Amino acid sequence: MTITLGLETSCDETGVGVVRDGLLLGQALASSMDEHVLYGGVVPEVAARAHLESLSGCLRQALADAEVSLEQVDAIAVTSGPGLASSLHVGVSAAKAWSVALGKPLYAVHHVAGHVAADTLQHGPLPERSIALVVSGGHSSLLMLGDLATDPIVHLGDTLDDAAGEAFDKVARVLELPYPGGPSIQRAAESGDPGAVQLPRPLLTQWAEHQRYAFSFSGLKSAVARHVQLARRSGEPVRTADIAASFQDAAVDVLVGKAVAACVDHGIDTLLIVGGVAANARLREVASARSLSAGITLRIPAPRLCTDNGAMIAAIGDLIVRSGADPSGIDFGADSSAPLDRSLLV
Ligand code: KG4
Ligand code: ZN
Repeated sequence: MTITLGLETSCDETGVGVVRDGLLLGQALASSMDEHVLYGGVVPEVAARAHLESLSGCLRQALADAEVSLEQVDAIAVTSGPGLASSLHVGVSAAKAWSVALGKPLYAVHHVAGHVAADTLQHGPLPERSIALVVSGGHSSLLMLGDLATDPIVHLGDTLDDAAGEAFDKVARVLELPYPGGPSIQRAAESGDPGAVQLPRPLLTQWAEHQRYAFSFSGLKSAVARHVQLARRSGEPVRTADIAASFQDAAVDVLVGKAVAACVDHGIDTLLIVGGVAANARLREVASARSLSAGITLRIPAPRLCTDNGAMIAAIGDLIVRSGADPSGIDFGADSSAPLDRSLLV
């Protein structure tokens, strides 16, 4: 029996989670999102200060939620990358200090591997082979997975420009909807007609051979911006709900289309969708319908486990610890652009 503590501070959420052998015992989350709304995006210095102020309280709260004492913790996992450097430093420094003070092994883990592991808290261990569509503020990737704790992560495709969440955030800004853009677009789209504005589905039906599973969202974002600009110039009202719904459908079409194709092409029958954008209701609905008709088992964690949190870092830490991997020691730094090759970074 192993109890793993996970710390997440890569962006604007301070998260602490406690996992025992694949079971989430407790967690706590604090967010500085409200402080960034005014600026329309995350301000790194503000986020880092908020992590400093929240981390100890989140630790106490997560342990209380899990009914576990700090002494009962067997291992600590921390996001050491990728993310905002100043934010990552807060979690990494705290994790090192607690590791030394308590004499517990420390594991430096990849943030996105945490997103994938979050699903195992809800749906149990991963099958031998699966495909993961990672859609967050910083990533849009189609990954082929074996053992998440020990095997190399194979990239089938990545975004050529913006990440999916970044596209939602930028389009929301064009539509003058509040940060974070994803939930704002989803809300606005509820009363819109997804067929109102014809928008491109980049790389969905036509692609160069090496871009079969690649994504590109900047053209879609520019098409929305052009549409809005034209409406404003000609004095027409900007139909925010219709544009939001049309954009959301175009993005979802591309994401789900490529993910299902990757599963079919590779003969893999389990698809995971993870990361902040996986909280999107339309994405969940379309992915569920298309997976069903393709005979694919779809796994998407509950929305609370899709956006950044500490439970996901405890989850990947727990898998790594139980795989018997060597700990990272304390001689590592935060790596804001850590490559997604393996779950354990050091
Ligand atoms: O995974 P995450 O919490 O942080 C990163 O690792 O980046 O993802 C944040 C992204 C943001 O771009 C946010 O707008 C998007 O996830 N997001 C959504 C929704 N909720 C969050 N996008 C679409 N629909 C949502 N409901
Ligand atoms: Zn994330």
